[in-house]
Amino acid sequence: MEAGAPLPPAALDEPAQPVAKLTGTLFGVGMGPGEPDYLTVRAMKVLAAAPVLVHFCKKGRRGNARTIADAVLTPDPARECALAYPYTTELHPEHPDYVAALAGFYDDAAAQLADHLGAGRDVAILSEGDPFFYGSFMHLWRRLKDRFPVEVVPGVTGMSGCWTRAGTPITWGDDVLTILPATLPHAALVARLTQTDAAVIMKLGRHLPKVRAALKEAGVLERAVYVERGTMAGERVVPLHEKPDDTAPYFSMVLLPGEGRRP
Ligand SMILES: C[S@@+](CC[C@H](N)C(=O)[O-])C[C@H]1O[C@@H](n2cnc3c(N)ncnc32)[C@H](O)[C@@H]1O
Repeated sequence: MEAGAPLPPAALDEPAQPVAKLTGTLFGVGMGPGEPDYLTVRAMKVLAAAPVLVHFCKKGRRGNARTIADAVLTPDPARECALAYPYTTELHPEHPDYVAALAGFYDDAAAQLADHLGAGRDVAILSEGDPFFYGSFMHLWRRLKDRFPVEVVPGVTGMSGCWTRAGTPITWGDDVLTILPATLPHAALVARLTQTDAAVIMKLGRHLPKVRAALKEAGVLERAVYVERGTMAGERVVPLHEKPDDTAPYFSMVLLPGEGRRP
């Protein structure tokens, strides 16, 4: 099989080979939205077997994907590799210093993981939600996928966990769902919100006042639901128009449920 080609899900279950593997496999493991019971069977198998477990984090903190794994992993510092971002919210993502620092960070991390993979060790990168949905994993995947075998283990997305806990179906009938980063300018948010039936607005943080104003201008504020830390400890669900303040942590989103066909 060529390096970078997706592996069939059985690879990690194969009996030990008499000869050492030439290279390890890079796994992107979807850890789901927070509740460990939402981990997939495949994720559990990869977490149990991989000799190198990688997670992203803010300097001096534990990453959320790693916290989810606490419920299912026996601690073993020898398997752990924490990758601390040089910046998170300190600079604008389009600031040249941010772009350069992040590119260098991902290059260095890819080189570090390539050493493990080149020595035949499987590397599992723990990704909150699904690895291919706004995941930092993708930046390492892009750098390593042509040199090493890759398997991505899909996960329950954060938004799926959020609308589940909000008890609100997100799309009915022919509803069109639009996923919006709250980082978009106000006018772009209004334009998208006016053209869609349902929406998920992610990466809220300090952008909540702008999002609230855009929903109001699009005439849909009354339908919007605010979800904080969906399925995690400290979960909070509230109609946005009843939320008195404009503070929102990193793990929060706004759901705009569709109102399509209901026979
Ligand atoms: C970089 S994206 C990662 C998305 C993730 N890969 C996924 O599949 O959901 C981070 C954003 O996802 C949203 N998010 C993810 N999980 C969440 C949760 N459990 N509760 C609330 N928001 C969540 C937040 O809007 C957060 O700012």
